[in-house]
Amino acid sequence: MDHFLYRDGVLHAEDVAIPEIAKAVGTPFYVYSSATLARHYRLFDEALEGLDHLVCYAMKANSNQAVLRLMASLGSGVDVVSGGEYLRAKAAGFPGDRIVFSGVGKTREEMRLALLGGIRQFNVESEPEMVVLSEVAVGLGMVAPITVRVNPDVDAKTHEKIATGKSENKFGIPIARSREVYALAARLPGLEVIGIDVHIGSQLTSLEPYEQAYLKVAELTETLRADGHTIRRLDLGGGLGIPYEQSNTAPPLPVEYGALVKRTLGHLDCEIEIEPGRLIAGNAGILVSEVIYVKSGEGRDFLILDAAMNDLVRPAMYGAHHDILPVIEPEAGTEQHPYDIVGPVCESGDTFTKNRAMPPVEAGALVAFRSAGAYGAVMASEYNTRPLIPEVLVHEHQFAVIRPRPTFDEIINRDTIPEWLEGSA
Ligand code: LLP
Repeated sequence: MDHFLYRDGVLHAEDVAIPEIAKAVGTPFYVYSSATLARHYRLFDEALEGLDHLVCYAMKANSNQAVLRLMASLGSGVDVVSGGEYLRAKAAGFPGDRIVFSGVGKTREEMRLALLGGIRQFNVESEPEMVVLSEVAVGLGMVAPITVRVNPDVDAKTHEKIATGKSENKFGIPIARSREVYALAARLPGLEVIGIDVHIGSQLTSLEPYEQAYLKVAELTETLRADGHTIRRLDLGGGLGIPYEQSNTAPPLPVEYGALVKRTLGHLDCEIEIEPGRLIAGNAGILVSEVIYVKSGEGRDFLILDAAMNDLVRPAMYGAHHDILPVIEPEAGTEQHPYDIVGPVCESGDTFTKNRAMPPVEAGALVAFRSAGAYGAVMASEYNTRPLIPEVLVHEHQFAVIRPRPTFDEIINRDTIPEWLEGSA
């Protein structure tokens, strides 16, 4: 359940009518529901009740400061994958001991930043990274708490671009080599081994791959402990999928995922960490756009929107499906019409969907892309010099712009002309 529903024939975000926001900020824009964000965080927190645990929101899904502040206020931890994300977490109020640093390519500068600013742990992904982290920590006279990300070689059965747990993927160390890698970690100065990390992919719609991975992690925990390592924390990654199509069967719920965690790992007396991103933010946001033209093509009608692939790249990049609905509720029994729904960007890839049946709409109508709260705004670009679109947060009957639309001057003036070209035009 989310908080984007028709009321009196008009789509609302919580208690705010979408056309009211459109009037205030212009289209296109993203709008997020505080109640949905909070509800999704709590579903995970409650699913792990009874275990010592921390939900570390994966901010790559949506890293707006207001969203982060809300998560921090709920008691969430946060998973970051760059120095920029680390600074965003700190700026939003997360204490260092609730920030986990993941990612395959951490630089020395990023390591230094996190060690000095405070960090819960680094999830280390390779031996060379481990050696560099050891050097950086020793250089600062500090000790870096680490887990090692293992690659369990399981098939997450998701889109190839977002599967991470197969041996062919760039992530983690092969689980079969764990003992030697942990032995190296124990020898290196400036590192404190505290646990194991695993993340097998994103938009998982079945619990089976998790079960395979977590059983391997359970076995590895016993093996590494027998080797003399301290394994007191297990970071289980994120990846639980969301229903993108209301008409489809829904993926497993957090409570079912939590039961699996307890069944496979609950006996190990470890602190459990999880890193959900999409499930917390995805269905907590929509993208609202206006129909610019309805154009009749050869055997098809195009809906040309004022939103484009630069605003929401998932359909172009992954062939992803987003439900698209009119903001004004069609009358019961309205016949559906097939449309190719596209943006104004100058390439055919700027197509959100083809032959999509939806109630007929006209130029000037507002439409909403559902499930756009995760990997929407954060993946946007200014391609075609289209300004990044505003983000709005709703809380009951209130709404606030949490990132304004930049002006064209701001965009253009970020570029600078080198001296030798000045005065040449
Ligand atoms: N932890 C790690 C180490 C990750 O790499 C990711 C996602 C997560 C947690 C959060 O996964 P989630 O719960 O959100 O599935 N841009 C793609 C998704 C990329 C996911 C990358 N890693 C999309 O739009 O579908």
